[in-house]
Amino acid sequence: MKSMFRQVFLHWLLCSCTTQVLGVLIQTAPGTSTNGVIVTELNKTVSLVCHINGSSYQDENLVWLRNGATISLKEGNTEGRSSVCITPVIQADNGATFTCYLSKNSSLRDSITLNVTYGPQLSGSEEITVEKEEALVLQCDIWANPPVQSVSWTFNNTNVDLEATGLLETTDGFNTKLSNGRAVKSLHEGTYECSAIHAIYGRHTKTFYVTVTEKTFKFPLFPMIAGLVVVFLTILLAIIARCQRIMKCFQ
Ligand SMILES: *[C@@H]1O[C@H](CO)[C@@H](O)[C@H](O)[C@H]1NC(C)=O
Ligand SMILES: *[C@@H]1O[C@H](CO)[C@@H](O)[C@H](O)[C@H]1NC(C)=O
Ligand SMILES: *[C@@H]1O[C@H](CO)[C@@H](O)[C@H](O)[C@H]1NC(C)=O
Ligand SMILES: *[C@@H]1O[C@H](CO)[C@@H](O)[C@H](O)[C@H]1NC(C)=O
Ligand SMILES: *[C@@H]1O[C@H](CO)[C@@H](O)[C@H](O)[C@H]1NC(C)=O
Repeated sequence: MKSMFRQVFLHWLLCSCTTQVLGVLIQTAPGTSTNGVIVTELNKTVSLVCHINGSSYQDENLVWLRNGATISLKEGNTEGRSSVCITPVIQADNGATFTCYLSKNSSLRDSITLNVTYGPQLSGSEEITVEKEEALVLQCDIWANPPVQSVSWTFNNTNVDLEATGLLETTDGFNTKLSNGRAVKSLHEGTYECSAIHAIYGRHTKTFYVTVTEKTFKFPLFPMIAGLVVVFLTILLAIIARCQRIMKCFQ
């Protein structure tokens, strides 16, 4: 029993020694990583420091990759210890994987992935003018990490009556849209608000002030150009025919 315990203990000691002797590991500041993921937010700064763990490799060069592409490092920032700084953190850093490895032996490596949380970019207001019988489209960007929990629309401070207004609401992970192919002043003019609720960043809203105007007379540019082209071609053909007739006389 005792010897078995000793064996297990020795085995554990051996294993932990070998993992300690050789290795490349990334430390993060601020914060900690769990299972190789760092949770951070927009505009924050994340520092990553890569160490070589093992005396025989102490002065070897380290290489950093971001999503597989090499990061260029200043001189002196590669031997034995190397740091990279991500500042400010942007949306595109979400899901980015940073890898550090030993230049001499790329199997000695460590990786870390960023999880950048952000709320939907919804704020302020917009004035929308639409001619009657034209299409009315209101759109809100609800892209967030993690995704928003719920989305809703109001019209003149009450829930939008989709049936009465003939408005169509469509929502995917990126946008929520309220639309109608033919705007009607008595139905659609007023104040709209889209809201999204996020688990971390709370409620975000954007307001639209919609005005439905009378139809303006549109100059029929395209039919006019088409008409002019026809007239021009007719004249051209007439001239050509005439020339041919004249030329025939001379032959
Ligand atoms: C991040 O910084 C930008 C530019 O300074 C600013 O417009 C934006 O509101 C900031 N975002 C957050 C979530 O702090
Ligand atoms: C090597 O790693 C062990 C634990 O993983 C740690 O206690 C030790 O300080 C590290 N050595 C160096 C030189 O980083
Ligand atoms: C690279 O490191 C691994 C793990 O320590 C080791 O098994 C392997 O032999 C090394 N390769 C070279 C070429 O040194
Ligand atoms: C990122 O972190 C947030 C907050 O902790 C979590 O809700 C979300 O599931 C994480 N996303 C991923 C892809 O790990
Ligand atoms: C909504 O509010 C606006 C401005 O207060 C008003 O002009 C409009 O008639 C209202 N629309 C409906 C359908 O109640």
